[in-house]
Order: sequence, then structure tokens, then C-alpha cells
Amino acid sequence: MVQTAQSHWISVLVLHGPNLNLLGRREPGIYGTVTLDEIDRLLAVEAEKLEAKVSTLQSNHEGVLVDAIHEALGQYQGILINAGAYTHTSVAIRDAIAAVNIPTVEVHLSNIYQRETFRHHSFIAPVAVGQISGFGANSYLLGLQALIHHLKNR
Ligand code: DQA
Repeated sequence: MVQTAQSHWISVLVLHGPNLNLLGRREPGIYGTVTLDEIDRLLAVEAEKLEAKVSTLQSNHEGVLVDAIHEALGQYQGILINAGAYTHTSVAIRDAIAAVNIPTVEVHLSNIYQRETFRHHSFIAPVAVGQISGFGANSYLLGLQALIHHLKNR
């Protein structure tokens, strides 16, 4: 069988949770002015450098994110997730990540530990490989690098 140049590339699912579709105009003092489309483009460029492919999905609905995590089984080797506010509320997303057992890195644009106390707890952190928080859009790129590094070295 002929192997294509990209056949060994790592596949990563990028999930963006609620309200992240409004990035660029949502509380720019906290989240910056970069849009979600720009973040997705930056991720695609970074992924290519790391010999990886990314597919991205944004949803404002918890169940859609849970379904996407289930459907990642057998299709993706890693998950990069900014679950937005669901980070602090969703046992369902946490359980989905634990159920599929796909290495997952959690990212946040803002430093959640510098903000309101209700943002200090993440339901996802205990089932994630690790968490990156506070570097703006760069959190996603750092998270992708960390995830790929983890997948290549395990
Ligand atoms: C966020 C932090 C969450 O507390 C918040 O609800 C978000 C965005 C971040 O990227 O900084 O929606 O996940």
C-alpha cells in the first residue's frame, strides 16, 4: 500500500465551548481581540509544523460537546479543549473525557486563577494530561504543542 506523506500525522480534535464564538468582541479586556477563526487558523498552521492535523468544533451546547468527545473515539489521538464556562460546571464533559480515555489538554485564554473564585475549580483538570491558562490565544498553541509532545513521547 502506498503511504501518503500525511498518513502518520497525529489527528487532534479541538473543542471550543460556549461563548467562544464571540471572541474578538467579547470582553476584549479579558479575552483580547483575536477571533475564533483566527485562533483556528493559527492552530492549523502550528499543527502542520508539528506533523498533525486539527479539526475544530465550537458549540454553545453541553450535549453537542459530549457527543463530539464520544465520536472522537477511533478518529482522534488527542483532544484540545477550552470548555469555557462548562469547565466549572460540567460533570458530563469530564465524564465523557474519562470515558473515551483520549489524552486531553485543557486550555484557557485568561488566567482562571486570577479571576472570580467560581472559576478556580475545573472539573476537567483531573482527567486532563495538563492545563494551560492565561496566555491569550497563545494558550491554544502552547496546549497543542504540549499535547503533540505528550502523544509522541508516551
Ligand atoms: C475561559 C475561562 C472561563 O472561565 C470562561 O467561562 C470562558 C473562557 C478562558 O478561555 O479564559 O468562557 O475558558
